[in-house]
Amino acid sequence: MLHRLERRFCPPAPAPLPSRPGLLELLARLRRNPLECWSADFFQEPIAKVRLPFTQAFLVHDPDAIKRVLMDNAANYRKDTIQRRILSSGLSDGLLSVEGGRWEVQRRALAPIFSRRTVASFTAPMLAAAIELAAKWRRMGAGATIDVAAEMTLVTLNVLALTIFSDGIGGDLDDFRTAMNAYFGVIGRIGALDLFGVPKFVPRPGHRRLLRTMLYFERVIDNIIDARRERLAATPESVPNDLLTLLLRSLDPSTGRRLELREVRSNILTFLSAGHETTANTLAWSMFLLSKSPEWRSRVAEEAERELLKPVDALADRLIETRAVVEEALRLYPPIAALSRQAIETDRLGNMVVGPSSIIVISPYVLHRHRRLWSDPDAFDPTRFLPQHRGNIPRFAYLPFGIGPRICIGSSFALQEATIVLAVLTRSFDLRLSPQAEVWPVQRITLRPANGLPMQIEKVQ
Ligand code: HEM
Repeated sequence: MLHRLERRFCPPAPAPLPSRPGLLELLARLRRNPLECWSADFFQEPIAKVRLPFTQAFLVHDPDAIKRVLMDNAANYRKDTIQRRILSSGLSDGLLSVEGGRWEVQRRALAPIFSRRTVASFTAPMLAAAIELAAKWRRMGAGATIDVAAEMTLVTLNVLALTIFSDGIGGDLDDFRTAMNAYFGVIGRIGALDLFGVPKFVPRPGHRRLLRTMLYFERVIDNIIDARRERLAATPESVPNDLLTLLLRSLDPSTGRRLELREVRSNILTFLSAGHETTANTLAWSMFLLSKSPEWRSRVAEEAERELLKPVDALADRLIETRAVVEEALRLYPPIAALSRQAIETDRLGNMVVGPSSIIVISPYVLHRHRRLWSDPDAFDPTRFLPQHRGNIPRFAYLPFGIGPRICIGSSFALQEATIVLAVLTRSFDLRLSPQAEVWPVQRITLRPANGLPMQIEKVQ
């Protein structure tokens, strides 16, 4: 499927281990970089079983079994305690972390906020954030070296700031970003305490710093909410139609219940954390992959040149080749590299019996490179995602956003944003990877370039 003239490019990734590591080595690798734990058998087997000290885990990469866990029998598989403990510090009342009836109420109330129509209405702020970044790079000029990974974190935070609270964060965006980085730095590592299920009251390393950061977030967000509520009460017609207004007005259609204040606050934090690094890394990997593929770089630049000059309506839908690059980046480097669940009652997956409390791990990273499901799985080839080939991808073989009832609520938002930002930047700049850059994927909370992504602006169009 690759263009005949271009060499097949397999971007950097750890070579699968020849055999499974022992427990101590597994722990060390999990802490350093969970991507480096996978042995070759996981990329070939549909389902693999692993014994852990107090439980067992099933590594599930078979489309039918995935369908059963995440969709058909999803009620039997709750988000497991490891994932919740790692992910939900401070977000415990937000959609990502709640379970059962509270999750249902929130999901119903929040769904309209992320509908296609509402997301399409965010085209303008997404474009504005991209253009602002392009203007900054233009001022730096050809020859400048930038850390593209850090810059993408900035632009995605700006997009969230513009779409959640269009009148700004109300304080210093840089302080907010520093706090965000500190937050991810602490929660992003899988430690032995989490893996062995040590209760939450046992302090984790960095816990105090995390608490301080959470208090800072709460203070900033509460101030913004208070100001907006006053405006909503005093002059509702003057209030911007952003995510914050939608959240404050959101009602659960079945009960008419409004979200509680702590739920609004938790969901703002949830959107900021779930939508920030994930989309930033998608963009960073897309920019890296394009820098290695002159053919796709010019295809994206030409498409952007053509489409960005037209009215912005349905812009992202017209950026077909750009979106294929974004989707291929999400395949090779899925920002959420592993999903996990815990079985409630006994179930059968393939020919395996899954007992209560068993852990199920579905790794989009492994799934997207699975030998049985993809041809040339390690090679960069966005052609796979062009409309004429897309139908060849089995539905449960490509899951960057998960699937089933807990599928990412922000997937259209993220795809639209990444497509628009990538188009704007590729149209305006030719970037080259710095010669001393060592690009390597590391899995923290998200899958990101371990050493940032230093790139040089070669040409400004
Ligand atoms: C490329 C960017 C993104 C990726 C790869 C991504 C990935 C995911 C995945 C895999 C899940 C499911 C987790 C599971 O089943 O255990 C998820 C859930 C979620 N995501 Fe995203 N996400 C992205 C962007 C966003 C954005 C932009 C937002 C919001 C602004 C967002 C908000 C959420 C929320 C609230 C959930 C929980 C949904 C629920 O449990 O009902 N995500 N995301």
